[in-house]
Amino acid sequence: MKITFYGHASLGIQVNDVDILVDPFISGNPKASHINIDALKADYILVTHAHQDHILDVEVIAKRTGAVVVSNFEIATHFEKLGIDCHPMNHGGKWDFDFGTVKYVNAIHTSSFPDGSYGGQPGGFVIEGEHKNIYIAGDTALTFDMKLIPLQTKLDLAILPIGDNFTMGIDDAILASDFVACDKVLGCHFDTFGYIEIDHEAAKRKFFEKEKDLMLLEIGDFIEL
Ligand code: NI
Ligand code: MN
Repeated sequence: MKITFYGHASLGIQVNDVDILVDPFISGNPKASHINIDALKADYILVTHAHQDHILDVEVIAKRTGAVVVSNFEIATHFEKLGIDCHPMNHGGKWDFDFGTVKYVNAIHTSSFPDGSYGGQPGGFVIEGEHKNIYIAGDTALTFDMKLIPLQTKLDLAILPIGDNFTMGIDDAILASDFVACDKVLGCHFDTFGYIEIDHEAAKRKFFEKEKDLMLLEIGDFIEL
């Protein structure tokens, strides 16, 4: 499993030969101006919630690639009306896709579309594929619901927001890593705007002091599990 960081909460996940994009917000992110969205491959686009900083490039990429949008019922309905193939889910549900299993799990946040219309309830994803299991928390507060995940899934990586203000910050993300029983964390949702700028070295040190590993990738860089 190869995981590429495209800035903010945008990820590319390659499982076998299947390309999955998560929350593509690239064309609106000045820090990601070196990423060409017209060159990104996508068989699926997973969307955690309807905020602009998670859906901005979904329509353009889905229409170019024919990717299937996987999200909550309201977001799937929204993109279906734009002529995009969608797979609707809701909290607690899971589905076996050709690349593996996806479960849509709880997040504590909000989920309006940019025009203010209802975007359902926000979520995260647990993905099991190629013998690797990852948790994409989405935008969320720390929540006890995270403790449900390791009851069923032994995670290899937790992708957690760490920028604070709109989501968990570093200290809560460390507790989240305990809750999901995964000490290997990829940070996201930091530095994009003034509200969520973080001190990288201080953040990594705090994780290290708890014997955990916080990875902060440059935009365009990847890790392999
Ligand atoms: Ni959000
Ligand atoms: Mn966000």
